[in-house]
Amino acid sequence: MSGASLPEGALAFLELMRRRYACKRFDGRPLEPGLEDYLLECGRLSPSSFGLEPWLFRSVSDRARIGGPLYEACFRQEAVGSASLVVAILVRRAQAYDPDGDFVASRAGRFPGGHPVFRADYIGYYGFLAGEGRLEAWSRAQAYLACANMLSGAAAAGLDSCPIEGFDEAALLAALGEDGGQWLVGLVAAFGRGDEERREKIRESLSSIARRG
Ligand SMILES: Cc1cc2nc3c(=O)[nH]c(=O)nc-3n(C[C@H](O)[C@H](O)[C@H](O)COP(=O)(O)O)c2cc1C
Repeated sequence: MSGASLPEGALAFLELMRRRYACKRFDGRPLEPGLEDYLLECGRLSPSSFGLEPWLFRSVSDRARIGGPLYEACFRQEAVGSASLVVAILVRRAQAYDPDGDFVASRAGRFPGGHPVFRADYIGYYGFLAGEGRLEAWSRAQAYLACANMLSGAAAAGLDSCPIEGFDEAALLAALGEDGGQWLVGLVAAFGRGDEERREKIRESLSSIARRG
C-alpha cells in the first residue's frame, strides 16, 4: 500500500501500525510520569458493546510484582517479566449482564431515557447471548478492542508493547488480589521500552486477506 494520497494523520497512524510489534524483552525501567495514565485513558475511551464498559484495567508498575507473581502467572514469559508496566484487562462475569441487575442499571442510567429505554434495546441481544451460552465470550471480546487501542497508543507515545494471552487466569487473578467469582481476565498487555532487535513485520498481502465488494 503506497498511501500517497492519504491525509497526513492517516499516514502517521499507518507508520505507527508498521512500527508496533510484539516486543518480547523490555528494559524494565520505569515509565515517565503520565504514561501509565495515558495508556489507561486509551483503554477508557475505547468502544464497548452497548457502551457498558465492562472492564477493570488492573495496572501494575511495581517491578517486584511484575517479575514475581505476574511473571509466574503468565507462564514465565519474558515479555511480562521484563516489562515496565503490565495491564490486565479484567471483564465482568456473566451474572453482571442481567438486564435488571445493578451493574446494567447503573451503566444504563447514564444514557438518554435511562434504564427503561436501555433495557428495551438490550434485552433481546442479552437473551440471544445467554441462550447461546456466549455471555462470557462476549464479555472477554470487549477487552480486545481496549487492548488494541492501548497498544496503538503506546506506539504513538514511543513505547513498545506486547499483547499477552498466555496466562493462567486463576493464578493471575490471585496475584492481582481480584475476585474470580466476579472477574475474568480478557487479555494482558505488557509495556515498556524494547531491549532487543526490533523484528520485521510478517504479514500476508492485502489482496490475500481482504475481499472487496
Ligand atoms: C490475542 C493475542 C494474544 C497474544 N499472546 C501472546 C503471548 O501470550 N505471548 C507473546 O509473546 N505474544 C503474544 N501475542 C503476540 C503475537 O504473537 C504477535 O502479535 C504476532 O505474532 C504478530 O507479530 P507482531 O505483533 O510483532 O506484528 C499475542 C497476540 C494477540 C493478538
